[in-house]
Amino acid sequence: MSKFRNLVIGTALISAMAAPVWAEKIGLGRPALPEEIAAWNRDVSPDGTGLPEGSGDVLTGEDLFSANCASCHGEFGEGVGNWPKLAGGKDTLADDDPLKTVGSYWPHLSTTFDYVQRSMPFGNAQSLSPDEVYAIVAYVLYNNDLVDEDFVLSKENFAEVVLPNAGGFIVDDRETTELPIFTREPCMENCKQTVEITAHASVLDVTPDVQDDTAVVAEPAAEPAATETAVAEPATAEPAVEEPAGVDPALAAAGEKVFKKCAACHKVGEGAKNASGPVLNGVLGRVAGAAEGFKYSSAMAEAGANGTVWDAATIDAYLADPKGFIPKNKMSFAGLKKPEDRAAVIAYLAGFAQ
Ligand code: HEC
Ligand code: HEC
Repeated sequence: MSKFRNLVIGTALISAMAAPVWAEKIGLGRPALPEEIAAWNRDVSPDGTGLPEGSGDVLTGEDLFSANCASCHGEFGEGVGNWPKLAGGKDTLADDDPLKTVGSYWPHLSTTFDYVQRSMPFGNAQSLSPDEVYAIVAYVLYNNDLVDEDFVLSKENFAEVVLPNAGGFIVDDRETTELPIFTREPCMENCKQTVEITAHASVLDVTPDVQDDTAVVAEPAAEPAATETAVAEPATAEPAVEEPAGVDPALAAAGEKVFKKCAACHKVGEGAKNASGPVLNGVLGRVAGAAEGFKYSSAMAEAGANGTVWDAATIDAYLADPKGFIPKNKMSFAGLKKPEDRAAVIAYLAGFAQ
């Protein structure tokens, strides 16, 4: 028996999703009759479509409401306890705690008629005749101060009743207005006409300073073969400290790391050229604003004309406060706050004599 039960339950689950023919076979349910469908298929549209023949007046509605509805909704639709209020709430929709009723909120009277005809009185739905529903709806209108007490609601004048919030609802047109905007093919390449670098991460200081780099302890001894021209990549430049004797190789090595903050704009080493900043080969001892072919700001050119020469002291002052040392110069770099960073990068630059 229990085995059979399981089978029935299993099949019932399938039948819920499959054709109703299964339900018939195992004796579960039956197709709805046309009359049954008709009994439920009685929705009333805003334009009055679906309304039954009939009519009812406010005073008849008052008696019916008192007998069938007031126990929950109150004699005047004011609501008993937590049962819904059917009247009042005028002009409260914009409040923090709006009172939404048939009168204040519902846009179409057809909803009230449909709702009452279909599902009220609660627990005894569909027990009212069309005339009774017309009368009760007329009374609900009366309770909302929308009609006088001699008002008669009928199928004929139904569509003439306009509820206060009729204009408060809009047709949802997002399917045609918004959806196309969000569902078009996303652009995946060449989406901008022009691409421009407006700032470098190193300048914006979004790149954290990495202090644990092992480069500092790199082998100090490149072969003495490293001549001036052999100073190619920064990697080999580090130990190949030349002319400016007295430059501490370890300091220069540290400076190479600091120079990463400059490298987006400045080039050094063999074959280095002007970039968005002037080439810095041989900057020590050079007059300010004097790298060949670089378009300096007039402020920088003037500084050179006025005798500013780059040495350890002036570069240090410049890097400590670029805009303070030479106002209006165009190096968009915040500078180096730490004196040891400045000393290190100057030592590094000293390695690129020409
Ligand atoms: C036993 C209590 C009870 C009775 C009697 C009753 N109602 Fe209701 N009514 C309710 C409840 C509960 C709701 C809310 C149902 C829901 O939200 O699903 C409701 C909702 C409504 C609403 C919709 C209110 C809104 O703003 O959402 C209307 C209109 C309404 N009733 C009208 C009537 C009318 C007219 C009668 C008499 C014919 C009636 N009710 C009888 C309990 C009752
Ligand atoms: C965002 C780009 C940028 C960064 C980063 C940058 N600079 Fe500059 N720098 C420039 C520009 C542009 C000038 C020319 C300024 C002018 O003409 O007013 C300049 C000028 C200089 C000069 C003067 C050169 C000359 O020929 O007169 C020195 C020295 C210098 N920078 C050093 C550094 C150092 C060292 C760093 C890193 C710690 C650095 N800069 C970071 C863009 C930059």
